[in-house]
Amino acid sequence: MDLSAQYRRIEHRIRSEMEGVLSSAAFINGPKVEALEAQLAERAGVAQCVSCASGSDALVLALRVLNIGAGDRVLCPAHTFAATVEAIVRIGAEPVFIDIDPRTFNLDAERLEHWLAADTSARVRAVIAVDLFGRPADYDRLGAIAARFDLHLVADAAQSFGGDHHGRPVGSLADITITSFYPSKPLGCYGDGGALFVHDTSLADRLRSLRNHGISSDHTRHDEIGMCSRLDALQAAVLLARLTIFDDELERRERIACAYQKGLGALLVTPTLSTGCRSAWAQYTVCLPGDTEEDNSDLATRRDAFVAHLREQGVPARCYYSPALHRHPAYRSVLHDGLPRTDRVAAGAFSLPMHPYLEAHHIEQVCQAVSEAGHDR
Ligand SMILES: Cc1ncc(COP(=O)(O)O)c(C=O)c1O
Repeated sequence: MDLSAQYRRIEHRIRSEMEGVLSSAAFINGPKVEALEAQLAERAGVAQCVSCASGSDALVLALRVLNIGAGDRVLCPAHTFAATVEAIVRIGAEPVFIDIDPRTFNLDAERLEHWLAADTSARVRAVIAVDLFGRPADYDRLGAIAARFDLHLVADAAQSFGGDHHGRPVGSLADITITSFYPSKPLGCYGDGGALFVHDTSLADRLRSLRNHGISSDHTRHDEIGMCSRLDALQAAVLLARLTIFDDELERRERIACAYQKGLGALLVTPTLSTGCRSAWAQYTVCLPGDTEEDNSDLATRRDAFVAHLREQGVPARCYYSPALHRHPAYRSVLHDGLPRTDRVAAGAFSLPMHPYLEAHHIEQVCQAVSEAGHDR
């Protein structure tokens, strides 16, 4: 992400929004935070947006407001950033990893259904779907499964805010959606920040209390034990300035994804979306084409050599979530459903540069380097 190009573009707006906070001396909550929450709720098509200190805290707050805790199980993918599963462990519940769809990198509805039909523990309370790399998960199917098994559906949209699923905006697709404003996210601030999106105003009221030590709205009582997780007003000011160009940035990302598709579609397995679905293109992640018989470790070796070649050509390609979380010491003991597709994707996928300020010559350079790396293999 080229944050300095973005800063140069809106420097005056950022400075003037921040100046407003400095002269008001309202550094926590206050008018900027309220204005931001109102704009974000409108964008997401929900009744309420509640900001907080990070996407990681937003996940914890989401599970807490759903009264999930010790003894409960929560299902999620292993091909994600650690914060998704960390939140489940932080509230004392037990995570279970479910396999992904290798084409979308998101939870596989069939594998989810399969686990739920076989899990006789009666402890599963929620599913966290992750919109990996910016592409919304299949909320139509996941929502129907969650309803059938009487589960809460939480959307981890840390990477996908700004995307759409069949014409419906990210934020409105699950019981609770969370996002992150970490600087490199599609809608990032200049520090840590996060938010939750809910349809139900009473949930929002409780989230506002939980993020502020469980204090009642009249500030007279602690109704429950909460957290210190507020978004500071300077970060809200940055986000208000950033929102003025967010739609344009999303369109630029979309154009860059189309250019990559044109240049790389014949060389790599490139991402595709169904009509009416829009990715926020947090990352442009591709896979090496390969023989299904190839061993995962051979594929990973081939992928690593490919990525090293790109980097030598000045293309900062990267492998995210490889290996996936169930292969890390901290999460090796987490229950899972086998995860063969997760392992496959973790071995073969890598991400190419993606941000709104890439120019045509950058894309050409990437396509050229990919083509050369392909020949040298
Ligand atoms: C999928 C996912 N979930 C949760 C988070 C946590 O967000 P934050 O860094 O704001 O705590 C991230 C951030 O990288 C993420 O990518």
